[in-house]
Amino acid sequence: MTGLFSLTGKTILITGASSGIGKEAAILISKAGGTVFITGRDEKRLKETFNRLEGEGHGMKVADLTVETEMDALIEEMPKLNGIVHCAGIVGPLPVKFILQEHIDLMFSINYMAPVNLTGKLLRKKKVIDSASILFMSTIATKNPYFGGALYSGSKAALEAYAKTLALELVGKGIRANCLMAGLVDTPMIESPSEEAMQEEALVRYVKRYPLGVGKPEDVAGAILYFLSDASKWVSGTSLILGGE
Ligand SMILES: NC(=O)c1ccc[n+]([C@@H]2O[C@H](COP(=O)([O-])OP(=O)(O)OC[C@H]3O[C@@H](n4cnc5c(N)ncnc54)[C@H](OP(=O)(O)O)[C@@H]3O)[C@@H](O)[C@H]2O)c1
Repeated sequence: MTGLFSLTGKTILITGASSGIGKEAAILISKAGGTVFITGRDEKRLKETFNRLEGEGHGMKVADLTVETEMDALIEEMPKLNGIVHCAGIVGPLPVKFILQEHIDLMFSINYMAPVNLTGKLLRKKKVIDSASILFMSTIATKNPYFGGALYSGSKAALEAYAKTLALELVGKGIRANCLMAGLVDTPMIESPSEEAMQEEALVRYVKRYPLGVGKPEDVAGAILYFLSDASKWVSGTSLILGGE
């Protein structure tokens, strides 16, 4: 692939690539000529993604990003990166009066601490080249709350604030940092048992908010491609809303 949106010659790390948005992003990035390094916890599903990549030279490694030794082992294998797409994350509706410390720890460990620690470690190890693009997955719910979403939205709001500061601190190196605030996307995440617990009525009300309907992983992957490509080289410190809300 050539042109403004080409990723030829770029190496991109994608977390959460064993499922949903991360999986679709990895496949699209490889189609755009990028070399990808994918990670996730489930080896079988990560291999399925790997087998669908186009081109040569891609890498994969299983890692639980809430376990420091596993994150460090991943970083050791990492080549120099032109881009990072932080897709790994969890959701879990919980009304505010039931939130316990253990819920906060679990949600923030993967949704906030993992991308923050991974980014910091990669920068310190000089694995992120100047002019790289770093992308974080956030949610429209940081702007428009939903019942039971306090923890999830809180973890993503923290991530958005982090990304803006990252963009500021790295601007001298030409490294960009941006967020995608996606509406509801049809992935295994929204089919998880915890989501089934979300009241049907609340879910229907939530879905009605999207004038463009519920998104598909490829709808998000297209935006990810834009942020990784030179088409967005003058864009940093932003949070792009996806879903038409
Ligand atoms: N779907 C939506 O409606 C929506 C909307 C806005 C934002 N987002 C965000 O987009 C991102 C991707 O979501 P998705 O819908 O694609 O979800 P998904 O299909 O459930 O995929 C989540 C990914 O995160 C990985 N992951 C979870 N915990 C991990 C851990 N401790 N260590 C390493 N990897 C871990 C999973 O790995 P394994 O499966 O291998 O365990 C999986 O690859 C998330 O950050 C989510 O918050 C999603």
